[in-house]
Amino acid sequence: MKPGHELGTSLQATVSALLAPAKGILAADESFSTLGKRFAALGIPSTEDNRRAYRELLFGTPGLEEFISGAILSDETFRQDTASGTPMPEVLTGRSMVPGIKVDAGLAAFPGFEKEMFTQGLDGLRQRLAEYRESGARFTKWRAVTSIGRGRPTRTCIRSNADALALFASLSQEAGLVPIVEPEVLMDGTHTIAVCEEVTRAVLQAVFDALFGHGVRLEALLLKTGMVLSGTDCAEQADDAQVAEATLRCFRRSVPAAVPGIVFLSGGQSDVAATRRLDAICRTGGAPWTLGFSFGRGLQNEALKTWNGSPANVAAAQAALLHRARCDSLALLGKYSAEAERFEPGQKASA
Ligand code: 13P
Repeated sequence: MKPGHELGTSLQATVSALLAPAKGILAADESFSTLGKRFAALGIPSTEDNRRAYRELLFGTPGLEEFISGAILSDETFRQDTASGTPMPEVLTGRSMVPGIKVDAGLAAFPGFEKEMFTQGLDGLRQRLAEYRESGARFTKWRAVTSIGRGRPTRTCIRSNADALALFASLSQEAGLVPIVEPEVLMDGTHTIAVCEEVTRAVLQAVFDALFGHGVRLEALLLKTGMVLSGTDCAEQADDAQVAEATLRCFRRSVPAAVPGIVFLSGGQSDVAATRRLDAICRTGGAPWTLGFSFGRGLQNEALKTWNGSPANVAAAQAALLHRARCDSLALLGKYSAEAERFEPGQKASA
């Protein structure tokens, strides 16, 4: 067998595992500063022990593998052991969830372009990817951010971020890792849903243009993006049906059918709104890609609040995570309803 063929096979196996029916990906890769802010809002000290305890709580949730196919870790978590000495990636693989790693180094101000950002982390990436693969990672994530406002986004910023995403994706595939390519369009702003659709389309088209240019295999990556929504401060908020229609139309116009899966980020929507809109999108049907979720806040908000830094709350926090994951799984089947929110923790989702 040719080496290239072998590599292809293992990338395909990871893609299939991540896109298992009615399962999503848990994004738990918040940086020190992002998780620090979320802990601080609840008065939880952001110590290494607390971060480990929290991630151990998430990954150790009994039954999570029924709804979650994989999890994205930060570098710190990837290298941490549980309190009883099991490496975090092994906690996941031991329960049939695929471990992945966020490999970008966060956002920096885009020089010469006010309020725009570029994503750092290409230096030394090839070596880091080889180490992560060796230590058990099977997929990677890189997030680029586009914001909407007066004069934004610029073509230059869109282009630059798309090129970095394509280099990241190419290097990941070379290392035998499935890239999750994440060009996020932020919700903040007064813009209408039509503007969000237009910007998302321009960003996605630039990203796929760059991916083509870099020879990235579309069959061996996942796209992670936001839903097409009205800006948070827009006076007129689109309803779920309009969100579903605009989101799917935008993807059809910009995402090649060769891409196996599109997984949504939650982007600051409330947990229930993210689930409801996911359900509306999945109910529409007819998409050439498998649709999934890769929520961070949308899965963790309630669990983090419930835990609140106390070992006594671990079981209740895990029940909250499991509940949200179950609702999101139902949404992928287009079977979510307000009724699902009333499931008692521990009850099977049999809808
Ligand atoms: P949210 O679902 O909280 O937007 O996070 C997803 C993510 O991975 C951001 O990079």
